[in-house]
Amino acid sequence: MKILFATSNQNKIREAHALLSELGHSVEELRINGNLPDFIEPQSSDLKEVANSKLKQAISLIKDTELEDYAIMVEDSGLFIDEFPGFPGVFSSFVYDSIGLNGILTLLEKSTNRSAEYRTVTILQWKNKIWESSGVCKGTISVEKLGKEGFGYDPIFIPLQGNGSTFSQMNIKQKTLISHRTFSLKGLLDSLKLPSK
Ligand code: IMP
Repeated sequence: MKILFATSNQNKIREAHALLSELGHSVEELRINGNLPDFIEPQSSDLKEVANSKLKQAISLIKDTELEDYAIMVEDSGLFIDEFPGFPGVFSSFVYDSIGLNGILTLLEKSTNRSAEYRTVTILQWKNKIWESSGVCKGTISVEKLGKEGFGYDPIFIPLQGNGSTFSQMNIKQKTLISHRTFSLKGLLDSLKLPSK
């Protein structure tokens, strides 16, 4: 199946492609008149609500175009730090741009609880049917930034299922084995075999 991923984040596209191409699907970026979509994020603390809003916006962008017959996929994701419930959560992108990784490390300086998790909600619409899935990757926040790969919070996120390295110290294949995005996408593909809601 050819899936058009509606996101302006090229890293998300690369990671989804790395997984789904191995499973026989292709993932390409959704471009409207050559441009990547830039969604208006609703005021919500719920990843699912944000993902649903992105889907609605994506579907309205492709309405009455030649892209209407393709499967359209959206996701919303974020980092959730146990010490600060819900934070940065749906505001991960904003917090990354404002206080950055150094700001997060400073906030956690005196904390004994460095547990955190990435969460993702993925929704796919194809021929007026909708499938939805979510994925979680548990881990801890490192005491310093380590590694050069990945994006966003990867230099400070150590996944529990890994070998103690941050996601940024892993290559895309290693991250793709255990990431929240992978679990969500695999769940989505499993549910594609079931009747949709
Ligand atoms: P959104 O889903 O586009 O609203 O943005 C999610 C934000 O969460 C990204 O901009 C990143 O800062 C962060 N994030 C989500 N997934 C990842 C990941 O796999 N690695 C690093 N940061 C991530």
